[in-house]
Amino acid sequence: MAGEKFILGIESSCDETAVAVVSSRRRILADIILSQIAEHAPYGGVVPEIAARSHIEHLGGLIGAAMAEADMPLAGLDAIAATAGPGLLGGVLVGLVAAKGLALGTGRPLLAINHLEGHALSARLLDDIAFPYLLLLVSGGHCQLLIVEGVGQYRLLGSTLDDAVGEAFDKVAKMLGLGYPGGPAVEEAARTGNGTRFALPRPLLSRRGCDFSFSGLKTAVARLIERDFAGRPTTADRHDIAAAFEAAVGDVVVEKLRRACAIFRRDWPRVASPALVMAGGVAANKTLRQRVGQLAQEEDFSLSIPPIRLCTDNGAMIAWAGAERLALGGHSDLGVAARARWPLAELEPPPGL
Ligand code: KG4
Ligand code: ZN
Repeated sequence: MAGEKFILGIESSCDETAVAVVSSRRRILADIILSQIAEHAPYGGVVPEIAARSHIEHLGGLIGAAMAEADMPLAGLDAIAATAGPGLLGGVLVGLVAAKGLALGTGRPLLAINHLEGHALSARLLDDIAFPYLLLLVSGGHCQLLIVEGVGQYRLLGSTLDDAVGEAFDKVAKMLGLGYPGGPAVEEAARTGNGTRFALPRPLLSRRGCDFSFSGLKTAVARLIERDFAGRPTTADRHDIAAAFEAAVGDVVVEKLRRACAIFRRDWPRVASPALVMAGGVAANKTLRQRVGQLAQEEDFSLSIPPIRLCTDNGAMIAWAGAERLALGGHSDLGVAARARWPLAELEPPPGL
């Protein structure tokens, strides 16, 4: 077995500045996440300019702190990985340029990582999950169903045609006056709500395939608040609306997931007990976890949900994706560009695959 390799991972594509040191033997030596939530909260969402400035202010210090936590000099690293997209371009540039500087300074290879690949492979950092597996990625920026066939080999089964599911949670929270970030607030409100009092639409449910749409659901919530409550629902009403919204999201996700399981079974009939990985910030939602868990049981998939710290944006998943690529002989050119848009389907496997 090759010697243990150490990879630095930098994540700065949205509102977390995160740095981690991870080893090829799945040890997490440092994992620091600085959330900018408080800086964006007054605006009710992430402000790209503020995010980029904040990454610049904090990244250098966090890299130093991560190396101290890992108790290792920069020369102890074997590669430098950073998110190169997709995401808010200003933030991505900050992390990627820092990684290029470190790669130049240390003489170690640079690994420009697709943020979604980071989420897709994160489950393998903790669990023995073999390719291929089914991935449900539900975050503030993404909502996708994929078959992860290998490093750099992703087959997209479906994605959202408009809003990401976390974005819908955030917008509904805003409409209900529940604050930002909205997901946890909607979940808390829904806990004591009656999800059957209001009938909300289940977008795209009757349409074939695994694509999602959440913007109609969000509009339906807005209309309900205006029409039935003149924009001023009581606390109890708000809880019922939140519960109805969560129920609608759950119904849609579960049905699309059922179809994805069927496609997986059809195309990979010899995989005896495939894994279903759920990742992204919305994987924190307990109702959704429970419903997805039940579906996995019915479909005979083994459900794996990374701990929440690894589900939401973090540096460890970027370092780990770097470790996976490094092991296959991958490295990036120092001229690699940051990309605001970078679909997983455009990725290529590293040369050793
Ligand atoms: O993965 P993440 O940290 O960042 C992105 O890459 O987008 O996901 C953040 C999203 C936010 O939209 C947030 O509202 C949502 O995940 N979220 C939740 C919950 N916790 C976070 N949504 C529903 N229920 C939750 N408990
Ligand atoms: Zn993310």
